[in-house]
Amino acid sequence: MDQTSLTIQPNSILCGDARHVLASLPPDSVQSIVTSPPYFGQRDYQHDGQIGREKDSTEYVRNLVAVFAAARRVLRPDGTFWLNLGDKYQGSRLLGLPWKVALALAEDGWLLRADIVWHKPNAMPSAVKNRPTTDHEYLFLFSREPDYYYDADAIREPHTTFSENSKMKGGRGHFGKRGGTPEQGKNGGQANLHDGRWDQAFHPLGRNKRTVWSVPLGKFRDAHFAVFPPDLIRPCILAGAPTGSLVLDPFFGAGTVGVVARELQRHYLGIELNPDYVAMAQRRLDELASR
Ligand SMILES: C[S@@+](CC[C@H](N)C(=O)[O-])C[C@H]1O[C@@H](n2cnc3c(N)ncnc32)[C@H](O)[C@@H]1O
Repeated sequence: MDQTSLTIQPNSILCGDARHVLASLPPDSVQSIVTSPPYFGQRDYQHDGQIGREKDSTEYVRNLVAVFAAARRVLRPDGTFWLNLGDKYQGSRLLGLPWKVALALAEDGWLLRADIVWHKPNAMPSAVKNRPTTDHEYLFLFSREPDYYYDADAIREPHTTFSENSKMKGGRGHFGKRGGTPEQGKNGGQANLHDGRWDQAFHPLGRNKRTVWSVPLGKFRDAHFAVFPPDLIRPCILAGAPTGSLVLDPFFGAGTVGVVARELQRHYLGIELNPDYVAMAQRRLDELASR
């Protein structure tokens, strides 16, 4: 069989090792990749070929770089890649793995565009007494090219300054007031409102999304591993993939990327090594489709 003879069936799950399955997909065919690979030395996903059970972290990083090199070929040139990773202590040493992986991917040709801190307000308490308790992971945004599809307006957040609640309100009472916009109000035509400030203060849809996202851990009882909270990946899909486009998760697990993609009228393609998880994700997605 020709190595790349498969066409992509939207809204489907392919069972196999991501490295091999990706090599069989047509190039330049997905708009966005949103994924969370197994973390190093964390869980046993009960299958040969699984990532995360390597002898050392260098091999783990090398394996992830190989998966995402194969994924880059499948991504459209204007596509984005959102990678969620958590860190790991080995003995008393924090390995710094998210950044090791991010920098290795950048070395391999990915353009690192943003490091987003996923703050988990309901993270598990821990018994540590000689360091702060970890309550964050990383979400990295990469692109193939400097120009890529990114809908900033789809994920704007509420203004915190110059708003009705702002302490600045008294001094700058032009926001949200009738006739008080910069075009018409007392600051009309003011030249010192440079673009960033203008956007911050007056963009009607809110300010540009920031790089710390506070999202509680979710629950999906059927899975015995961490699943994405839908609220974590909703912004990635909204900004990274227009309606009707294709979102890939090469470590599909319980299929949360599929669930959120369908909810947002996007298509998904999942790749998952363990057939039991493929069945679980399929059940979850079928149930959603039948509602
Ligand atoms: C952290 S879980 C992903 C959970 C997913 N984000 C969700 O919300 O359900 C990682 C998944 O990667 C799968 N996996 C591990 N090695 C793999 C490989 N080489 N190819 C494809 N999938 C793999 C595991 O079986 C596991 O289901």
